[in-house]
Amino acid sequence: MKSPGNLIIAIVLIVIGLIGLFALSYSTYSSSYYSYQASGFQSNGERIYFAATSGSGEPIVSSIGQMTVRGGMMSCATCHGPDGKGGKGRVMMWTFDAPDIRYSTLIGENYTDELIKRAITKGIDEEEKQLQPPMPGWQMPDSDLNDLIGFLKTLK
Ligand code: HEC
Repeated sequence: MKSPGNLIIAIVLIVIGLIGLFALSYSTYSSSYYSYQASGFQSNGERIYFAATSGSGEPIVSSIGQMTVRGGMMSCATCHGPDGKGGKGRVMMWTFDAPDIRYSTLIGENYTDELIKRAITKGIDEEEKQLQPPMPGWQMPDSDLNDLIGFLKTLK
């Protein structure tokens, strides 16, 4: 680095590189999250499951520890899969196993509708154990929870 001119060029190149990296990660990020939102939904429960957006207009807010996410950035389908069978979930660089949350499976594990609601809103499972991150706690009105459970029943 002989002159300040070279230094400025180097800084400009680094900044352009960072913008490129950001654009690249943003595009993979948005394609995995927003692809679901493009399609039409047959019910409010289905919309919540895939897009974390309610037809009631009430915001659906999720939080993983300190991180709070508003609206459809991630949805049940992001982690539990479009068929609810769970498997390898992926949020950004993070992969983990998400359980099967089809209604029939949960009922088989001694969940009731009220316990499913508690798991979704408070992150407490049917055995009173705290569910681990990255299962978020979700805030949504009871009517939306009922619609969501209605949708879980349709997953076969
Ligand atoms: C960021 C990933 C992620 C998202 C998004 C997510 N979950 Fe989960 N969920 C998990 C993981 C991981 C577990 C298991 C946690 C554990 O075992 O401690 C879990 C557990 C659960 C359980 C308990 C299952 C059991 O067998 O005890 C239910 C019910 C559930 N999720 C429902 C939902 C619903 C409904 C949504 C959408 C409103 C949702 N989850 C969104 C990751 C996620």
